[in-house]
Amino acid sequence: MNVTDDAVALRAKMYGTDDLSSLPVFAGGFINFGYWRDIPIDGDVTVEQRVDSQLALYRLVVDRLGVGAADSVVEIGSGTGVGAAWAFAEVGPREWCGVDLSPDQVRRANAHATGGLSFHQGAATALPFPDNRFDVAFSLEAAQHMDDIAGFTQQAARVLRPGGRFAVCTFFAPTGDHPGALAERLDTFATGIDRDHSVPEVVDHLTAAGFADIDVTAIGEHVWPGLDRWLVHLGVPDGEWPRRWLSSYRDGLIDYYLISAVR
Ligand SMILES: C[S@@+](CC[C@H](N)C(=O)[O-])C[C@H]1O[C@@H](n2cnc3c(N)ncnc32)[C@H](O)[C@@H]1O
Repeated sequence: MNVTDDAVALRAKMYGTDDLSSLPVFAGGFINFGYWRDIPIDGDVTVEQRVDSQLALYRLVVDRLGVGAADSVVEIGSGTGVGAAWAFAEVGPREWCGVDLSPDQVRRANAHATGGLSFHQGAATALPFPDNRFDVAFSLEAAQHMDDIAGFTQQAARVLRPGGRFAVCTFFAPTGDHPGALAERLDTFATGIDRDHSVPEVVDHLTAAGFADIDVTAIGEHVWPGLDRWLVHLGVPDGEWPRRWLSSYRDGLIDYYLISAVR
């Protein structure tokens, strides 16, 4: 079995029977590293603050996209649907369609479904919607799992109407200059669960898919130190691999990005 086959099986298990959202490193049903800018991390961190950090990442993306009442939104990699449920209630877009590769995640998310808020099984590379269907398309902490970023950006462009807004928010390598370096440090890259896509690669794919006004904002300073503080709270020792997210960021091998564009 090659790395990709292994990785596909590992991802299916972690979001299927293993239910990653139930691990203490995440909380509140979310599965992201969080945006900690407004959360004090000089002392201990509480579970409530960990949940707030993950909600804050959703808020950041929804604000950047300017989601409003008139918008029809597709979220690619919607997980257990808690971010979608929050945004739908808080911002009140006309429609919010979550899509996730994992049937188990869609089943979990369906607990939040209401009129206008729906969840669908599907791949980022084969979105189950017609052309020009949405005003807004985005993905939060899912693109690191995607083997085919070109397919993802093409599909996002296809389902967006002309002038539609797009964002992808997750961790990427700042450059393609250090292939294999993240796999040497971080288990999820070594197994292929995460892919070391670089920012220039993502920007090139967005451009090729027809996106314009591409904006790349690095937000790692508000992600990695907070995540590391939470790992300390959980008692993860210095030598264990998850503590190397922060050092990998400080060594310039990885950053967390909010990349937005217009179709
Ligand atoms: C880290 S979780 C993030 C979930 C959610 N955005 C959150 O912040 O809580 C990543 C999600 O993306 C989904 N996913 C991974 N690869 C995907 C793909 N190619 N197409 C659609 N969904 C995918 C996974 O099943 C998982 O539910």
